[in-house]
Amino acid sequence: MPKASLISIAAYTPSRVLSNFDLEKMVETSDEWIVKRTGIKERRIAKDEITSDIGTKAGELAIKRSGLKKEQIDAIICATISPDHLCMPSTACKIAANLSLPHGITAFDISAACTGFIYLLEIAKSLVESGAKKNVLIIGAEKLSSVVDYTDRSTCILFGDGAGAAVVSASDENEILNVHTASDGTQGELLITPGCGSAFPASKETLDKKLNFIHMAGNEVFKIAVQTLTKSVLDILEKNNLTSDQIDFFIPHQANIRIIEAVKQRLNFTDEQCVLTVAKYGNTSSASIPMAINDAYEDGRIKNGSMLLLDAFGGGFTWGSAILKFGGKNYCDLNA
Ligand code: UT7
Repeated sequence: MPKASLISIAAYTPSRVLSNFDLEKMVETSDEWIVKRTGIKERRIAKDEITSDIGTKAGELAIKRSGLKKEQIDAIICATISPDHLCMPSTACKIAANLSLPHGITAFDISAACTGFIYLLEIAKSLVESGAKKNVLIIGAEKLSSVVDYTDRSTCILFGDGAGAAVVSASDENEILNVHTASDGTQGELLITPGCGSAFPASKETLDKKLNFIHMAGNEVFKIAVQTLTKSVLDILEKNNLTSDQIDFFIPHQANIRIIEAVKQRLNFTDEQCVLTVAKYGNTSSASIPMAINDAYEDGRIKNGSMLLLDAFGGGFTWGSAILKFGGKNYCDLNA
């Protein structure tokens, strides 16, 4: 059976910065409160770009860094909770067209909120290891600013736009060792975009009630996230007979510095092991983990063979963890 490896990583962020000081002018909040409660200082906001545009930029660089030709990519999967269109076409189909990927390529979106990238890894690993596909492009892409209510101070300070992408291919080295995904739909209403689906179809009333935006019971979600993530990381380490000191980099979903710190302390990860991007990008949902891997790759921390532990928790609820050896070899930028 072939083994699957993450052979490239890339990210793209829109250039426009929305700082905490900008938000102070929009809602009743303060830079001090936001930094203390979340660790976020700024986030990126797309203006004229839509989710597929953001995902296309990350996807293009991920293919380039994989060393493969576009014709060799035989599936593209996009995780997003802010797709270009509610139902169809999928954002993956649009990115495939933007990138001129092969005609007839398998392309679909998944919806697993902030755990999107972990779900993508599990699907891509299964496709490659079963022999169904050879090279799978996976993308977490979000224009969360399109589903955020900028009059709601409890959510608008948290989210940002961006995309992260990777190629998963068959390889003899640096395999994706283990991926675990999970869900619990019984508490879905604690973190929800209620409107514009079949439950509350788009209408004047739906929009007047702001049901098209993200609603979150932040404090309850926070407590469940800390407990669930700690257990998820402990379980995957134990299952793989590993301890935290054998991990080179711990790359958690970047929702809130206090959640990350709580998990990091309980698992005894050091500052050097922990990759943090929450201050500069906020929470970019499915894009947050690949964007963070990319950050540590571009600044030279993550190298070919680095052992990575990923974890995420999000709407659904969904959660998951992954352990992998990074298989990227061909560092380059988009203009190379
Ligand atoms: O990515 C998916 C998973 N998502 C998460 O994991 C997010 C989880 N939740 C969180 O990160 C945190 O709960 C928040 C950052 C959203 C909120 O922090 P908190 O420490 O849980 O605050 P809180 O909701 O308990 O609110 C405390 C107070 C409230 O005022 P009162 O009722 O005590 O008078 C809020 O109204 O803080 C107030 N508040 C704010 N004050 C200034 C809420 N938002 C703001 C704000 N600026 N932006």
